[in-house]
Amino acid sequence: MDWGKGSYEPTAADLLPAARELVTAANIQPGEHVVDVGAGTGNVALLAADLGARVTAVEPAARLREVIAETALDRDLTVVDGEAASIPLPDSSADVILSNFAVIFAPDPAAAFTELARVAKPTGRILLTTWQPGVLSKLVGVLIAALREVTGGVDMGTPFNWHEPNALSELLAPHGFTVSGRTLDLDIVTASATEYWDTRIATHPLGIETLPILENAGRLEEVRNRVLGMINDDWTTSTGQVRLKAQYLLATAVR
Ligand SMILES: C[S@@+](CC[C@H](N)C(=O)[O-])C[C@H]1O[C@@H](n2cnc3c(N)ncnc32)[C@H](O)[C@@H]1O
Repeated sequence: MDWGKGSYEPTAADLLPAARELVTAANIQPGEHVVDVGAGTGNVALLAADLGARVTAVEPAARLREVIAETALDRDLTVVDGEAASIPLPDSSADVILSNFAVIFAPDPAAAFTELARVAKPTGRILLTTWQPGVLSKLVGVLIAALREVTGGVDMGTPFNWHEPNALSELLAPHGFTVSGRTLDLDIVTASATEYWDTRIATHPLGIETLPILENAGRLEEVRNRVLGMINDDWTTSTGQVRLKAQYLLATAVR
């Protein structure tokens, strides 16, 4: 799917605090080569460049690559087309590889980690964020369940537990990495439940890709009402403001 479709920008703003945590945890030194995998609009890449790193932003979506390039201005930041399992960089060329909620979209986790390990220097470190099960998986679960019913159940293979350090370790240990992790909170705030639907689901690239399927099947209104009902019941304050408390794993892999 194309993450350049629709409007990813509101979600990028939501994820910025996690990008800050990731960059802080990486302890980036001036002059280090930092690779941001699945850079989106450049949350991590821009922060790393501002610390004096030489940054490569790897992003598969053409429109988002343009957004990063336009924002980068005179920073030491190169934007390239690629994805987790296919990074156009030489072996052992990165001091730090970072990925803020992006490697998790790689369809083949083992291939993705093999590629990250190839690009990392022998002393290189890999840090990534992945969602913990919770509020977001509950909301997305409503959409996925309806899509499965409508499409007759798409085989999505065996899900990979991106949020479990042990699962990450199984794939990174063969490349010499030791993985540790800690769980952090991220608040996602919108003025109302309908604003959440409009800006974080309907116009989000994933919504642009999937909601027409539900609409064609006559299920969109019902699914929208269920999602709004969950948000109103569980995550709306007395003033009508939505405050989703999401949790994520910040994983660090070192050799
Ligand atoms: C939730 S966004 C996160 C973007 C950014 N890291 C941020 O902090 O806002 C997911 C990003 O992963 C990218 N992506 C999708 N599939 C990918 C893959 N297989 N490997 C790397 N990135 C991928 C998307 O294009 C999108 O930019």
